[in-house]
This record gives sequence, structure tokens and C-alpha cells, in this order.
Amino acid sequence: MSQVHLGHIFHIAGSPVTGEVADALVAEPDGALVIDDGGRIAYCGNRADIPAGYRAEKVFDHRPGFLLPGFVDTHIHFPQTFAGDAYGGGQLLEWLERCIYPAESRFAEPEFAQLAATEFCERRVAAGTTAAMVFGSAFPHAQDALFAETQRRGLRMVSGRGIQTTGEKSAAPLLTTEDDAIRLTGEEIGKWHAADTGDVGTALLHVAVVPRFSLAVTRETLKNLGELYDSVRDRGVYFHSHLNENNRPGTGEVDSTKQAYDVATYLDTYDGKFLPGSAEGGKSLLGRRSILAHCVHCQDVELRRMAETGTSIAHCPVSQQFLGSGTMPWKRTIASGVTVAAGTDFGGGDEWLIPQVLSAAFKVHISEPGEDGVSMHPAEMLFTGTLAGARALDMESRFGNFDLGKEADFVVVDPARVPSLESALAQGIRSEDSALARDQTLFALLMGLREPAIAEVYVRGRRIDLH
Ligand code: GUN
Ligand code: ZN
Repeated sequence: MSQVHLGHIFHIAGSPVTGEVADALVAEPDGALVIDDGGRIAYCGNRADIPAGYRAEKVFDHRPGFLLPGFVDTHIHFPQTFAGDAYGGGQLLEWLERCIYPAESRFAEPEFAQLAATEFCERRVAAGTTAAMVFGSAFPHAQDALFAETQRRGLRMVSGRGIQTTGEKSAAPLLTTEDDAIRLTGEEIGKWHAADTGDVGTALLHVAVVPRFSLAVTRETLKNLGELYDSVRDRGVYFHSHLNENNRPGTGEVDSTKQAYDVATYLDTYDGKFLPGSAEGGKSLLGRRSILAHCVHCQDVELRRMAETGTSIAHCPVSQQFLGSGTMPWKRTIASGVTVAAGTDFGGGDEWLIPQVLSAAFKVHISEPGEDGVSMHPAEMLFTGTLAGARALDMESRFGNFDLGKEADFVVVDPARVPSLESALAQGIRSEDSALARDQTLFALLMGLREPAIAEVYVRGRRIDLH
């Protein structure tokens, strides 16, 4: 049966290019969203204009609440479900060695992994994250638990086991042989890619090839993964990893990677050019279904190559603040034409909620020095947390906004559940200029949103239970 949802609607319509989304913002204060019985958007507009055929359908009145597209988290770590706010006394590499590798090693225990899968999905629903690129556990049983739980709840997910073939002592439980790295990844693709419908065009579940980062694998791993990825690309399999996150001089991730591989750019290692001097050694892992997290310290040549290949960025400013990784230059990165979507990077980030990532993005980018500083438009924030995520996942034609025919992924926000949000919306200053007043309301909503205000979550028109 079709459904009618009433509320104050915001979404980014159409398919605007990154950096030009303000004109695509749609606001319907007295809005209605009609979902057909296939879970697709049949109407989005003013309540008074609901097509006659749908007027008699079941009505869910969320007023004075808001209806927003479901949030898309393009980078989050399943095996760090319990590792948020872990103190390691250092930046990325110390934190990985002292906190994260030990925390992820606990997933060797199947019962613990199951507990984490349940908790992870609960947190996702509570945060209104309807679609996510999930950096997976090294352990196949943990990935089975995650996929099974995600399917049971009806959430969208791309995930793949985290691949590590080399590393320090504390990473030992997470390492496999070169052969097992390829075998286990191939098995995960065979078992879970489009497992729910058998068709990649309709599936909610997808698999990614996920080397942790170049420092956690070898040239041999990258060569073998390139071949594996090349053989499954046309089935819509994804690639996911980290890039240019920590640039502490000499000993940080970026310099260590360039030294270890003797390459001109970090990106070369994922682009088949992982031999000394950036010589070609294998096939590229970049493409329209490739997402790289962070990209804080990219050279122009790297941004150009990402744009050329359709590779996207998962922007994770909450994590970058937590780990002291710096600030991704917003203007320069957007100007390169690369799609920039939002990622929590939980537990490098300590927030599950994408609007909190957008809030951090606003704050760090307005604080960039001199001419680089930018006051993000609220529409750009909404875009980054919704439609840009769908685009980064190469599924923009399926979800991400309320265009007719799209699969209806949305959240209902009830400001009354968060008094500070409710009062900011009710009493905050609003311009006499109606367009600016609209933008101010959206800004207050995104900045002030907290998890308890996420009242209901829908994927493909189906309401998702929290438990
Ligand atoms: N680089 C390699 N592994 C990780 C991780 O787990 N988190 C973050 N933020 N960066 C990484
Ligand atoms: Zn990460």
C-alpha cells in the first residue's frame, strides 16, 4: 500500500554539480511525500497538491517535524564499534597500534563480533544513516554477522573485510598470508555481493575490496588485489581505503607510505603504480565505485587523477580533529571536481551522526586561513551528507533525494525530542528575505540535530525498527 508522509521537507533535487548545489535546494514547509507500494517516491511537494489518486491513502502526519533524505555515511569502521574515544597518546599511527589493532583483534571471538554487529546496526539506525560504506573486520565470521544483521534490518550497506598482510606486533591477529588475503576477499564477494536480491541494480547489500591502507599491505597484495578487482569491477564491486590522512613530517602516514613504496604520490600505490619511482606494477583500483577516506593532504595531481577516474572522497572532519590530522582544503578539493561526501570514520571520529560531521565541516572550513576560509551554504551541507554520498556510492540514480521514482530513503526529525533544537528552530532569528530565512532554518536544523530527534528511519519506503 502506498503511504503519505506530512512534514517540513528539505532535499537537494536533481543532480547538481558539486559546488553548485544551493540552487537545487528544495524546501516545502507544508510538504507531503508520497511513497508507492514499491517503496519509491511517487510525489514530493506541497500537501495541497497531492495527486488525487493518493489522497485516500494512509497518512503519517509528522508535523511540525521534518522529512530529510536518509543520511549517507561514506566511511565508518565496523570493528571500531566499541573503540570511539580511545586514548592512545598520539596521532594516527600511535592510535592504530595502541588502541585500534587490539580493539579490532577482539572480533576474533564470534560472540563478541555478533554483539558488535547488533550494536553497530542499532547505532546506525539511531543516527538515521540509511546507507553506508563500512570498513569491515578482518574476520570473515564478523563480516557474516554484519551482513546478516544489516539484511535483517533492511539497511543499505557496502562493506568488505579489512585486508592487512603486514604490520607491527599489535596488528598480528589481523594479518593474513598473501594468498588468504585474496581468497577471503573473493569468498566475501561470492557470498554477500548483491546477496539480498541477486541483482546489483536492486540490491541493498554490496561488497568492497578494502585494503586497510598502503602501509598495512605489500606490493604483492596490491598487485593481486588489482587483478581481483579488475575481474569483478563489472559486477559493481567497490574499492575502499584511506588516503593522505596524517602528514606528520618524516614519521606520519603520508611520508611513511611514500618512503616505503618509493613513490611520487600516495595515490600511485592504489593506481597500479606501486613500484619504485611510481613505475607501473599492476592494475588500478580507482574508479566510479572507489571511495578514499580523508584526502586531507592531496597534491593537485592526485586530485586530478581522482576526478579523472571518478574516485570519490569520504570527508571526515570529526575524525580529523580527533586525530590531529589537519583540515582538508575545501575550496581546492571541490574545485578539482572530485565528489566529496561525508564520513563519520567512527571510531577515529567520535560521532555517529552525519549532521554532526556536517557541523564540524562548517566549523573547520570557515576557519581555514585567509582566502581559503569558506562559510558553507546549508544546502551544500545537506548535499554532502545525502546526495553526494549516493553519488560517491555510484547509486545516485537510486536514492539520495526525493526525485520522482527514487527509492524512498528518509528520516523523520522531531525537534520536540531535543529541546535545544526545538527552541532554536522556534525562536532563532530569521531574515525577512524568504530564501535566506529558509537557509537559516535548514542551518539551525543541521547544526542542532542530535540523535534523539531522529524519530523514524525508512529505507526503500520501509520503516526500520531500532532493535
Ligand atoms: N588508516 C588506517 N587504518 C585506519 C583507521 O582505522 N582509521 C583511520 N582514521 N585511519 C586509518
Ligand atoms: Zn577510517
